[in-house]
Amino acid sequence: MAKDYSVPVLNGPGTTDYARYMRTDALLSLQRRPDEVIHRDELLFQTVHQSTELWLKLACSEVQEAVRQVRAGSVDTATRLLTRAALGVELITGQLEMLRHLSPWTFQTIRTVLGHGSGFESPGWRAVQRASQRLDTAFDTLVTERGVDLVELYQGSPDTDLYRLAEAMIEWDERISVWRVRHYKIATRIIGHQSVGTKGTPVDVLSRLISHKFFPELWRIRTVLTDSGPMAAHCPVDETSPLVCSAGGAS
Ligand code: HEM
Repeated sequence: MAKDYSVPVLNGPGTTDYARYMRTDALLSLQRRPDEVIHRDELLFQTVHQSTELWLKLACSEVQEAVRQVRAGSVDTATRLLTRAALGVELITGQLEMLRHLSPWTFQTIRTVLGHGSGFESPGWRAVQRASQRLDTAFDTLVTERGVDLVELYQGSPDTDLYRLAEAMIEWDERISVWRVRHYKIATRIIGHQSVGTKGTPVDVLSRLISHKFFPELWRIRTVLTDSGPMAAHCPVDETSPLVCSAGGAS
């Protein structure tokens, strides 16, 4: 007898196996209902936010597993997982582009239903902070256990497992900063530079967070390499440069 593929075989809510496995009924009910919506662009706004939370859930799960792998000494596995996590952050950076289609005036309407809700409360973003801090600690412990000097690591072959892990961490850190740059630009484009967000934070505070680093030591190594490299003595700071002067000198 021919098999009837139209009959679901999985348990759970939904009329198809796709709906039952993907939980699409629940997923697609998470946006505001037609009777709640005050502007049709709420769907655009919620879709970007909700999908960001999903990607961050995946990315942070990868970073948490990477931390476990670093602790277990499985450095290559950790590197592979971190590369995936960084791709997740790249994808959420790309989808911020959709907010270019949200007009500043429309957002003023949507804002009336956001309460004090703010991205600072994003569970995904909080998980990013926690997972990154744990990764920093796990990496430090590994480097100490192996007795590795980071400057020597970076002067050596880029093909060692530790070098590749360090670069995957830099990639993760940089991707977060790039997201912050795009988010800051979108926020100022929509609500302006001097405005205050729904959590009472001036938008320009976001620009300062762009330079935040989860792994400052790995960034510092680059400066050490520049300061000790073959060109170090040939590149003194130009004290007459207007930009150096306005930055308060070279100290
Ligand atoms: C209309 C577009 C947006 C505007 C105007 C905006 C504005 C802001 C503002 C003003 C803040 C500072 C905190 C506050 O007082 O609210 C903030 C923080 C934040 N927002 Fe947005 N945002 C927008 C879209 C998004 C989207 C799509 C996400 C994705 C989940 C997001 C996630 C965050 C996060 C994670 C923070 C903390 C940033 C950090 O620590 O660097 N925002 N946003």
